[in-house]
Amino acid sequence: MYKARIIGTGSYLPEKILTNSDLEKMVDTNDEWIITRTGIRQRRIAADNQATSDLALEASKKALITAGLKPEEIELLVVATITPDMPFPSTACVLQAKLGAKNAVCFDLNAACTGFIYGLSCVKQYLQMGTYKTALVVAAETLSSVTDWQDRNTCILFGDGAGAAVLRREETQRGLMEIYLNSDGNYQGLLNMPAGGSRIPATENSVKERLHFLKMKGNEVFKIAIQSMIKAANEVVSRNNLKWEDVKFIIPHQANTRIINAVAKRVGVSMERVFLNIHKYGNMSAATTAVGLDEVIREKDIKEGDLLMLVAFGAGFTSGACLIRW
Ligand code: ACO
Repeated sequence: MYKARIIGTGSYLPEKILTNSDLEKMVDTNDEWIITRTGIRQRRIAADNQATSDLALEASKKALITAGLKPEEIELLVVATITPDMPFPSTACVLQAKLGAKNAVCFDLNAACTGFIYGLSCVKQYLQMGTYKTALVVAAETLSSVTDWQDRNTCILFGDGAGAAVLRREETQRGLMEIYLNSDGNYQGLLNMPAGGSRIPATENSVKERLHFLKMKGNEVFKIAIQSMIKAANEVVSRNNLKWEDVKFIIPHQANTRIINAVAKRVGVSMERVFLNIHKYGNMSAATTAVGLDEVIREKDIKEGDLLMLVAFGAGFTSGACLIRW
């Protein structure tokens, strides 16, 4: 049985750090509120000359080094992002040129914070079917470019970053196992960026009305985020007849520590096995689980055969979970 196995990961975080006390000078907020309500202490912000493809490039280079592959060996390149360099061409094509992945078929995918899991699911099909042998999935976001720095409800939450994974078709028991995905477009009004597309093209008015920024009804999203992540996580465990003790590490999307705590409590997993980096980076949308996976692989004692789980929720709404046998 062929599997899509992750043979290398990498991540990149921009150098600039924006702390909670920096934000206190920008909007009416305070360090204590941000830490107790979200768990975030600081976030990374891309430099003025860095677009999403630039962050993606650094993460991809690291993933390729770990995998021991050259860019031209990549046959499929998927970028998951809600903050592409521009509406078109795809950031995947922009990245292809920068990276020199000249033999890759490239496209972007938008599933917001669940984007990395959707990306893995997509390449899994191509690799298992034998269409391609080697793929690169990159989740990269420059959320600072769509954050309204005058809106205290949202600007404290987000950060920039990128994570990447190289996958190869192999005859093995290791690799991507079960992936569960879900989408529900009925909630699109709770979390979106209204302008800049065909519904509200850019005009002087759309800019004046600040419609080119991310809008979120946070407390309405909160409960659905918890329920959706619990459902996704339980699905992949039960479909494989596993017990929660079998999963060595859970790498959840990092939107809010309270969401992660609630999910862990409800499924009955101790927080020792739940990876957290929200305090350092905030919510990086699709990049969050990709960076998390890379950090878990590099920092934790992960051995061959260990089971890891990614679980996420985001705009759309989308949700998903992915079980990986390392
Ligand atoms: N500093 C101080 N006070 C604030 C701030 C701030 N930065 N932001 C809001 N407040 C105030 C509000 O104005 C409100 O005051 P009021 O009671 O006087 O009206 C009070 O704090 C409580 O506001 P809530 O919005 O109810 O706060 P809540 O506890 O819900 O926390 C948060 C807000 C952090 C946004 C939370 O709701 C959340 O994490 N939501 C889910 C986010 C999520 O999962 N998003 C999906 C992924 S993102 C993506 O896909 C791109």
